[in-house]
Amino acid sequence: MVSIKKEGHGLFIAVTGTPGAGKSTFAKEISDDLGITLIEINSIVESYRLFSETDDDGAKIAMIKPLTKKIKQLAGESLKNGAALIVGHLACELGIRYDIAIVVRCQLEILEQRLLDRGYGTEKLKENLMAEALDYCGVAAQERSDEVLELDGSADKDVVIDYLKARIEGKPGAQPKLKQIDRMPELLKFIEAGKLP
Ligand SMILES: Nc1ncnc2c1ncn2[C@@H]1O[C@H](COP(=O)(O)OP(=O)(O)OP(=O)(O)O)[C@@H](O)[C@H]1O
Ligand SMILES: [Mg+2]
Repeated sequence: MVSIKKEGHGLFIAVTGTPGAGKSTFAKEISDDLGITLIEINSIVESYRLFSETDDDGAKIAMIKPLTKKIKQLAGESLKNGAALIVGHLACELGIRYDIAIVVRCQLEILEQRLLDRGYGTEKLKENLMAEALDYCGVAAQERSDEVLELDGSADKDVVIDYLKARIEGKPGAQPKLKQIDRMPELLKFIEAGKLP
């Protein structure tokens, strides 16, 4: 078990969520708006070859412990400048404590279409839709973050960016009031349609 330890100074921000939810898109906006270097976990896994094998679909299995170490090292550099920003669904698996975790959520029908467009097989599609319905990343993010902000698609993007800006500048800032997310009615529809579980 990797210990979850808080990094030195600066605000450690992680953007996470189900594959295809729109994490990279939003994280890029944060990065551009706030001028913080974006650390894409998937790119780090690739460039440092931090994967052990591929699963049935040919997807790479990341090695969590060395990946945690590498991300801590890279984020450490950014933190010296006030904030670090990492993005990836693996953010909620790493042994790192975040100041703020942002979970990008996605309506099941939209996610289904995106993942079908990517050519996901039935099992992998179901697994990811279920993860989104049950907020797998959000629950995991709660365990390792001081604050968790959940966004439904592009709703509330601007208020979240303003809040991050204030926090980086050291202002306490009131936590933004975000749209409540409940995927249960959508999950029921998918179950009734025989698409899940
Ligand atoms: N707010 C949005 N409105 C419309 N389309 C979006 C939005 N956010 C993302 N998309 C689209 O959805 C797709 C997936 O987005 P993105 O690559 O950001 O997801 P991701 O969560 O980073 O996925 P992965 O886990 O594979 O890295 C892209 O085609 C992107 O253009
Ligand atoms: Mg991405």
